[in-house]
Amino acid sequence: MLVLVAERLGLPLSQVYRVATFYNALSLQPKGKHLIHVCTGTACHVRGSARVLDRIKMELGIDVGEMTGDRLFSLETVNCLGACALGPIVVIRNEYHGQMTPAKVKSTVKKYRKETSSKRHEKD
Ligand code: FES
Repeated sequence: MLVLVAERLGLPLSQVYRVATFYNALSLQPKGKHLIHVCTGTACHVRGSARVLDRIKMELGIDVGEMTGDRLFSLETVNCLGACALGPIVVIRNEYHGQMTPAKVKSTVKKYRKETSSKRHEKD
């Protein structure tokens, strides 16, 4: 894909690659339907975001930067989402889940799985 973009723009491939890998909004890896961002900024960290992140990794069976085999979830970390008072914060599909705890992870992930499953059934 990058080669095609470079050819169409008449730019060196290295320049296209540099832009594609610089911005967080762009990715060379496919993303899951639900992108999960766990804030690991200072305020969230002191309130336990590392334990929340570990629980999410365990629940999904993936590490940061990876996507689940069913392509439903991708997991990423961010440094601060600007809502420090609500930390630890987890954002899934642009929905903020404040004061997240490891105990809430399973039900939160289940909610998105169920939502996706019911939408698939509606299409059938
Ligand atoms: S440190 Fe997590 S929202 Fe600011």
